[in-house]
Amino acid sequence: MKYSFTAATLAILSTVSAHSWLECTNHDNAEILGWMKGNSTMNPPLIVDPSLPWYADSCKGWPRSKKNPGNWIDESSNYIWNIGANSWNGGSFHPADTHACPPHQRSPTYDSNAPMASAAPGETIRLRFGGNGHTRGSNVPGGEPGSVSVWWKGKPEQEITDISEFTKENLLQTGGFADGSFSYPADPSVKSPLQGLVDKGNWMEVKLPKDMAAGRHMMVWTWAYSGQSPDPQWSTCFDVMVSGDAKSPISVSAKTVDATPEPVKATTAAPADKVAPVVDVPAPVVDAPKPVVDAPKPVVDAPAPVDAPAPVQAAPEVPAPAPDAAAAPAPQWTKWPENNDAVYWKEHGHARARHFQA
Ligand SMILES: *[C@@H]1O[C@H](CO)[C@@H](O)[C@H](O)[C@H]1NC(C)=O
Repeated sequence: MKYSFTAATLAILSTVSAHSWLECTNHDNAEILGWMKGNSTMNPPLIVDPSLPWYADSCKGWPRSKKNPGNWIDESSNYIWNIGANSWNGGSFHPADTHACPPHQRSPTYDSNAPMASAAPGETIRLRFGGNGHTRGSNVPGGEPGSVSVWWKGKPEQEITDISEFTKENLLQTGGFADGSFSYPADPSVKSPLQGLVDKGNWMEVKLPKDMAAGRHMMVWTWAYSGQSPDPQWSTCFDVMVSGDAKSPISVSAKTVDATPEPVKATTAAPADKVAPVVDVPAPVVDAPKPVVDAPKPVVDAPAPVDAPAPVQAAPEVPAPAPDAAAAPAPQWTKWPENNDAVYWKEHGHARARHFQA
């Protein structure tokens, strides 16, 4: 695998056109997918966004160093890793950084209420990532959503540290970025959020090998564009704790492992624990008026809420409003720029633009 100057240049450009990261490494989407479908057929349709904090309970496994509930602003600052741009060798001006994982995800670090996924050999884990409007190729270099892959060294306690380890031998599974997406409207000519596309749910079901040894398995999820830049572009790193006979973690036979389908241990945190981390997140996240996302506006008028729960920044000091505080004015979204990710950059201080007004 090589990253030519051309590819790197594309990659840098792509930082303002398309990015994604894993939000959850084992998502129980049965209930929420029903809600998403049901709400999408209402008139007007309501958006149900599974990345919002009040749906965090449906996430049963998390990437490294994640928060539960998550915070969109925080996540997009800390967890995205642009392989193409970072690995570009620009000499002393820009030395190549070929790490496979973002800085926060180079060791198996987990908060107690956001544990790694657990599974038995042969089971399926369901990864969830943001569509961010790219599900039908909008704002993606090449105009197609590209592919997602999971890389794994095949044994417990083995770390993929460098992009040179994205090899055929280490490839566990690959598929289309949008293979497991629920998006609407059905009209395929609707491609971008500005036209009304809603693609809040993107999933990748990863089938674990039946002969997987017990223990902690490190994995890397990547998104690659198609066409001119098919190399992994964005990554998220995570672990799966595989149950089984931990006394012989390396050489457990498939039969032995299958015979002891010891269920998930560490994942099931007490409900109280799940609520606690609100401390880590500005309280208004949870209390913030939901209308931004759930507002029954015609999708056409508010096409690009993307996945940015903007009130997070909008009202950090505002006391929690009464549940039905009719007096609190709902934030009004201004027109979003053509490029969704321009919003992201501005939110991160490059322009410090505000995209809503009271
Ligand atoms: C819409 O979503 C909510 C959850 O936000 C759910 O309670 C409700 O049942 C859904 N409605 C439909 C028609 O699916």
